[in-house]
Amino acid sequence: MNPARPELAWRNSRESHPVSQSESDTNLTDRRADWQNKHLDARGRDLLERDARAFLHQSVSTPCLNAIVKAEGIWIEDTAGRRYMDFHGNNVHHIGYGHPRLKRAIAEQMDELSFAPRRYACEAALALAEKLAAIAPGRLEKMLFTTGGSDAVEVAVKLARAATGRFKTLSFWDAFHGAGFGAASLSGEALFRAGPAAPLMAGAQHVAPFGCYRCPYGHPCDESGKPFLDRCHLACADMVDYVLSRESDVAAVICEPARAVPYLPPAGYWQSVRAACDLHGALLIFDEIPTGLGKTGRMFACEHDDVAPDILVLGKALGGGILPIAAVIARADLDVGGHWAFGHYTHEKNPVTARAALTTIKIIEDEGLVDNAAKVGAAALERLDVMKRNLSAIGDVRGRGLLLGIELVKSRDTKEPDAELAELVLYRALDRGLSFKTTMGNVLTLTPPLTITREEMMRALDIVEEAIAGGHEG
Ligand SMILES: Cc1ncc(COP(=O)(O)O)c(C=O)c1O
Repeated sequence: MNPARPELAWRNSRESHPVSQSESDTNLTDRRADWQNKHLDARGRDLLERDARAFLHQSVSTPCLNAIVKAEGIWIEDTAGRRYMDFHGNNVHHIGYGHPRLKRAIAEQMDELSFAPRRYACEAALALAEKLAAIAPGRLEKMLFTTGGSDAVEVAVKLARAATGRFKTLSFWDAFHGAGFGAASLSGEALFRAGPAAPLMAGAQHVAPFGCYRCPYGHPCDESGKPFLDRCHLACADMVDYVLSRESDVAAVICEPARAVPYLPPAGYWQSVRAACDLHGALLIFDEIPTGLGKTGRMFACEHDDVAPDILVLGKALGGGILPIAAVIARADLDVGGHWAFGHYTHEKNPVTARAALTTIKIIEDEGLVDNAAKVGAAALERLDVMKRNLSAIGDVRGRGLLLGIELVKSRDTKEPDAELAELVLYRALDRGLSFKTTMGNVLTLTPPLTITREEMMRALDIVEEAIAGGHEG
């Protein structure tokens, strides 16, 4: 520990920052067992036991918390009939679960054309590609589809290698880009990089990310978590430039424009990084798998910063919360690898998943969901600011649209994370019908569907506020 900077002690404290709590709340604590003893009915218990027997166990996944029988709109319902507003939903549920228009479109497509074998074009896949090219930021026009985000990230890296003739990548520590060996190599969390994931892809370099409340470069922020730009001079962006100049042969910088933790970029960050990429000949790849398609109150998170990438990756909500599909969208002039296979995926042009994606985008547009995310998100952030004034356990609140975070601390001075309180709050909220996940152990991460109303949001925040106000008792 640096004796001059006690507030940075949290970085090295395994207790407050354990490996297993980076991406999500851990599934093996006593509190989880207590909660389950109190709330699971016989059928739920039976499903969980069978689930634990059938599936390989892994961190933040199996064994499960609870078993559900229904997912509708913003709600999930468990076997005991308890309903929860789902403020996590793996970020697939932008249009709400089980949207009737989407279900109809999928059924129609299954009747029309249910699959397209490789080498055959089909209308549904083309219509989706044309739509994505029309809405994508900047000059992104040509694409490939995959079934999952991790695969799409790896396609993007291969494309960058083909286009630049280089192989190295630069990405953020603490990021998550997927579970494949390539995507895990880009990720910056030990949970996904160490142990069975290693050895990793060669040339995957990392740099500390932006994150003003806990600036990795040690710069202070103001009361509202904003940086003093005249003091830090965007040291975080400068370091990207520094690494690119020293490595000098990086194919691509790949990052989430708004980190899903969440952490938002300081003003000017992406402009600086864009300029550094251009200067050093690296492509800029934005991973908008959780944040794209309206989550942040703009169709794409990078639009807040007015910076377009060379390659954009989408996934998760693209399939409308029903089907798995992801997309890599690139500048047309990067289409230089026709003799290689980037993503020889079986479901590359699946008409049913493509139709689901196209319909999802149309629902987002027709129902004004991006605008709704911006408005409800702004109201939520205002309310969170008030909550922070009243509750000293809240160190920071931040968000954009419906990507919201509440950081719980033991002390505002030391900023020591309060993972224990976060866990108590998580289970208290579940008691009251609200489900969300924690990230980094102590950040309550709230990412509801874009269909949520202001009233539902306020009800959820009532639950969160009471749960935090309950403190460490119980
Ligand atoms: C930023 C980011 N990139 C990539 C992925 C991987 O997507 P998938 O789980 O579909 O492979 C995720 C999933 O959580 C993600 O959050």
